[in-house]
Amino acid sequence: MRVGILTGGGDCPGLNAAIRGAVYRARKYGYETIGFRDGWKGARDGLTMPLDAVGLAHAGLRGGTLLGSSRTNPFAQEADAEKLLATLTRERIDALVAIGGDDTLSAARELHRRGRPVVGVPKTMDNDVGGTDWTFGFDSASTVAMDALERLRDTATSHHRAIVLEVMGRHAGWVALATGLGGAADVTLVPEETYDESSLLAHVKSAVAARGCALVVVSEGIDLPVSQGSTGGQDQFGHELLRERGVGAEVARRIEAGTGIETRSAQIGHIQRGGPPTLFDRILATRLGAKAVDLVHERRFGTVAVLRGERVEGVALEDALKAPKTVDAAWLDLLHTFDA
Ligand code: F6P
Repeated sequence: MRVGILTGGGDCPGLNAAIRGAVYRARKYGYETIGFRDGWKGARDGLTMPLDAVGLAHAGLRGGTLLGSSRTNPFAQEADAEKLLATLTRERIDALVAIGGDDTLSAARELHRRGRPVVGVPKTMDNDVGGTDWTFGFDSASTVAMDALERLRDTATSHHRAIVLEVMGRHAGWVALATGLGGAADVTLVPEETYDESSLLAHVKSAVAARGCALVVVSEGIDLPVSQGSTGGQDQFGHELLRERGVGAEVARRIEAGTGIETRSAQIGHIQRGGPPTLFDRILATRLGAKAVDLVHERRFGTVAVLRGERVEGVALEDALKAPKTVDAAWLDLLHTFDA
């Protein structure tokens, strides 16, 4: 078999470990592997690169993706879809492993609907792909954000200030939740809950009264109307670029205006997506990459390799993509146990 591999959408730590897992497992089956550069763009335009196990021995230690990535939607226009199908035929691809988030996996589902053999691997720092307990990239990104919060705590303590940290995550609050819980924030605002300013101000005041400072974590996707940020345009899949809204800075302005407490804000942006993967992400990505090739070997096309409890399994792409995974009531209950 000749197996094509691509990584699409926003990069995250763990992608190289997933590629390595897939390539080494393919070697075990005696399959050939070939990389497509820059996500669906490379698969559409025939941009390939050799992928062999020897060259990938240490690939899993690094962040980013050695294949490159893009937010190209190969089904945005029918002409692009035809180019993609022609490329897969010309490159003699017997099976494609598509590593990505909801958008990349939706394109994989469409490819499967058009009769091509494809298997998915979920990744994203947002942790919002359905069907899997966790996505790799999330643990690494949240660990970076938690470290940022701890650094901000030093300054907040020294200057008796409130400091707001804005984190990514799109319309799911997983990164904010993990950062707030792991880093002991006084308040954490997630998109799954309605913005409540009076409760926010009360918690900030009480934290400052008790400890002399307040740390607030804000997810970029909260439903706060922004006065100074821009809407930032959209990507090829129609997603608004949320960080351009600057909700963290807006929340800081509102805290200072509503409490009189000197307040600052920080937005760490893509710093969250870079750097070496954590151990958890290295292991998860390695397992899912290898599992994807097992699914190819079993000819279970139209599936995605997922983590369920301690096991990696294959589930139908159709099922995994039914709804994005957002923070549920039990997690919110735990989060609010620690409100200031
Ligand atoms: O989906 C991953 C993510 O990092 C989101 O958390 C964020 O909103 C978006 O990508 C940023 O996209 P870009 O890298 O295109 O600016």
